[in-house]
Amino acid sequence: MKSFELNNKQLIPAVGFGTFLIPNNGPTYDAVLAALKAGYRHIDTAAGYMNESDVGKAIKDSGIDRSEIYITSKLWLQDYGYENAKKGIETSLRLLDVDYIDLYLLHQPYGDYLGAWKALEEAVQEGKIRSIGISNVTVNLWNKFKDGMTIMPVVNQVEFNPFTQQKELRKVMDEHQIRLEAWYPLGHGNKDLLENEIISQLAQKYHKNAGQIILRWIYQEGVISLPKSTNPKRMKGNIDIFDFELTEDEMKAIQSLDTGKGTHNPDDLSNETRLMGLKIHD
Ligand code: A2P
Repeated sequence: MKSFELNNKQLIPAVGFGTFLIPNNGPTYDAVLAALKAGYRHIDTAAGYMNESDVGKAIKDSGIDRSEIYITSKLWLQDYGYENAKKGIETSLRLLDVDYIDLYLLHQPYGDYLGAWKALEEAVQEGKIRSIGISNVTVNLWNKFKDGMTIMPVVNQVEFNPFTQQKELRKVMDEHQIRLEAWYPLGHGNKDLLENEIISQLAQKYHKNAGQIILRWIYQEGVISLPKSTNPKRMKGNIDIFDFELTEDEMKAIQSLDTGKGTHNPDDLSNETRLMGLKIHD
């Protein structure tokens, strides 16, 4: 597995296994164990996915040394604010059953964001978290929060795929060497994307499937991807992308597919109201 360097000099595996929408108490355990068997060494979960305990159990039962696995989790909005965030971090450590988390993100950019960020910064000083980052942060929201941060985020995890390329956001993130991480890297199974003509032709040329072409393109863009699959064959295939290289023209051809839009707009106030109302515990 190839890695990227982050702005704090730490390394992150370029492709991770995403666990959004996989239920706890079995399905996440099975999926993560299968992903680790398939060769993944980077697992992305979140308090808000409510499956951290299955992730932790699968990692333990895999028999792979903790130090070889990169774990990302995220703090949910309900636990924002300095005091709540300190408790939220402890809860993630307990559910994952680990003594440190490699990367911890603020999941959504609302509420007492900077209070929570301060707690994350302290957890880095205390060795409980190795790197901290942000998620779903647009240029507007970045401008709102950035001056209150002492430690710069290492990543911004956002929707990213050939149809949603976040070009403006990338320019701003690049100024701070904040790397993008892609959720919905395969467009969440969007057929228009997976059956796109340009991508299909490249799949034929390189004897790969459409998902592998997209994930290779994301890798060559310097973006970390978090593909999700419950199909063991595709799971394995999605990390088998390091034995070929897209040419500059092929990269450009995929760049031309950008629509400038995604399925989720964090600047939309109705999203803020909806997400602030989602509770994950009493
Ligand atoms: P499945 O679980 O049957 O493999 P995203 O990661 O963008 O959210 O996309 C996940 C969706 O894409 C799932 O529906 C998954 O289905 C499907 N998928 C995962 N890998 C591939 C692939 N290589 N080719 C086509 N579809 C894929």
